[in-house]
Amino acid sequence: MEVIIFENESLVAKRAASMLADLLSIKPSAVLGLATGSTPIKTYQELIKKFNNGEVSFKDVSTFNLDEYVGLKSDNKQSYQYFMREQLFDFIDIQLDNTHFPICLNAKENQQVAENYEAIINAKMGIDLQLLGIGHNGHIGFNEPSSSLASRTRLKTLTRSTIEVNSRLFEAGETQPTMAMTMGIGTIMDANHILLIATGEGKAEAVRNAIEGAISASCPASILQMHPHVTVLLDKNSASLL
Ligand code: GLP
Repeated sequence: MEVIIFENESLVAKRAASMLADLLSIKPSAVLGLATGSTPIKTYQELIKKFNNGEVSFKDVSTFNLDEYVGLKSDNKQSYQYFMREQLFDFIDIQLDNTHFPICLNAKENQQVAENYEAIINAKMGIDLQLLGIGHNGHIGFNEPSSSLASRTRLKTLTRSTIEVNSRLFEAGETQPTMAMTMGIGTIMDANHILLIATGEGKAEAVRNAIEGAISASCPASILQMHPHVTVLLDKNSASLL
């Protein structure tokens, strides 16, 4: 595991964007695993700058997002599909047909959605680079503590703590989903290269448990210690307990 600590979150975003752009210069048809949440927003802004400067093109890129809320359509502002269009896809030359999410409008269909998502990832020969954030409780994607470390894409009920932390993103009157489809920990571990980014003091404990703690389902991100090619980009605050 390569851990790089930067002075601030802007430098984290710049390095993350450069790593993604470097991959695309070697492999223009790369398959990217993408993440939502507030952490990667700055990385996406840096990628948009690189696209505008002609440094990178996404026209042959395919993407797979880690997760999506159950029951939210793509035009719902809280859906991760909407988030990705607003933060990245609308500003680059990616073909939306090449972007993928584990969309499950009806929870009853979760198994079929999960199997299908795994099948499309396999048909693309897997993910070249998976971008990851980390939850305050050490979750990756929506693999909450106690998730099987070998899990595949599936339906997960969100923990109360995750619902509380994410409630800041919902306005009064908006229904906050309590279930999501998420790539499993095993699915994430199949990626060739994993790029975990974390910023802010609020993530310091999760970062310490993930990097220096015992490998345990109580901190799902700790399984990354078993992956042969992981890069962790941190700002000083998220690295403060290392
Ligand atoms: C969310 C997402 C994760 C994300 C995490 C942290 O619940 N499912 O993919 O990494 O929580 O989010 P943030 O970057 O906003 O702290």
